[in-house]
Formats: sequence, C-alpha cells, structure tokens
Amino acid sequence: MITDSGLPEGKIPVIRVPATPTKANKGGSIFGGWIMAQVDIAGSIPAEMRAKGPIVTRAVDSIEFKRPVFVGDLISCYADIVAEGRTSITVKVDVYAQRIRGADIETIMVTKAKLVYVAVDLNGKPRALPGK
Ligand SMILES: CC(C)(COP(=O)(O)OP(=O)(O)OC[C@H]1O[C@@H](n2cnc3c(N)ncnc32)[C@H](O)[C@@H]1OP(=O)(O)O)[C@@H](O)C(=O)NCCC(=O)NCCS
Repeated sequence: MITDSGLPEGKIPVIRVPATPTKANKGGSIFGGWIMAQVDIAGSIPAEMRAKGPIVTRAVDSIEFKRPVFVGDLISCYADIVAEGRTSITVKVDVYAQRIRGADIETIMVTKAKLVYVAVDLNGKPRALPGK
C-alpha cells in the first residue's frame, strides 16, 4: 500500500514535486541546482506569508546534499521559520525523497538547508516585518 510513512508526522510539505528526467545530470541522478531551486521556493513560502509582502533571498547560510535524488523520486520540501530579525526571516528547509521499491515506498531525507529572506518595499529596500 502506498503511504506517506517516513515523512515528518503531523507536518505539511510546502512543495511536493516529482523529479523528472529533464532534471537529471549526466550520471543519472538529479542536478543539485534543481534541488536548490526547489529549496529556495519552499523557504520563500513561509517567509512571504510572515512578511505579508515581497521578499528576496539574502543568503543561503547552508545547504547539505545528504543523499542523491533520482529520476522518479517524489520530492517533499518542509519549511519552517527558525528566526527573525527586524527585516529578515531565517527558514530551515528539509527535503525528503520517496521512491517506489516493489510494494514498498522508501523515504529518505536528502537535503537540508538554511536560508535568509529579507522583506523589501516597492523599491527593493529592506522593510520592517509586520509587528516590528
Ligand atoms: C536583500 C537586500 C535588499 C538587503 O539590503 P542590505 O542593504 O544588505 O540590507 P541590510 O544590510 O540592512 O540587511 C537586511 C537584513 O538582512 C540581514 N543580512 C544581511 N546580510 C546577511 C547575510 N549575509 N546573512 C544573513 N542575514 C543577512 C541583516 O542582518 C538584516 O536583517 P535584520 O533587519 O533582520 O537585522 C539587498 O542585499 C539585495 O537586494 N540583495 C539581492 C537580493 C536578490 O537579488 N536575491 C536573489 C533573488 S530573490
């Protein structure tokens, strides 16, 4: 039976997307740049909700590719705000891959990252977060 077991319990991924052949590199695994793009998009979702307006990515503090992702894997990205300043929001993103193995689904933590977003005004200048 197909289940979501192995994914963080009680949490909702902000993105779920299949890794398709167009994202593969020459070796057959998925290109890290595509995973980084998913991570950035995922992290921006809670940041933009918190900022209630435009944000930009200011820094990728860390990104760790712990395990490879392969064509056919289903990627789930979880994003949580872990810190905030006057204009900045730090978000932790955890990425899991799920792959079908016969009758079973294997779930693997593949990537971890921490990113900093800054709320900006219409001129692209830092803007205080609501309530700050
Ligand atoms: C984001 C941007 C508007 C910030 O402008 P800035 O003049 O650097 O602003 P500040 O120095 O006041 O920093 C703004 C916030 O970012 C934080 N910050 C700055 N550099 C940082 C870094 N390397 N890592 C983490 N946080 C950082 C500051 O601490 C500050 O946070 P706080 O207000 O919560 O204390 C500007 O750097 C920019 O436009 N960068 C390009 C963004 C971009 O194109 N991203 C890619 C596409 S979205």
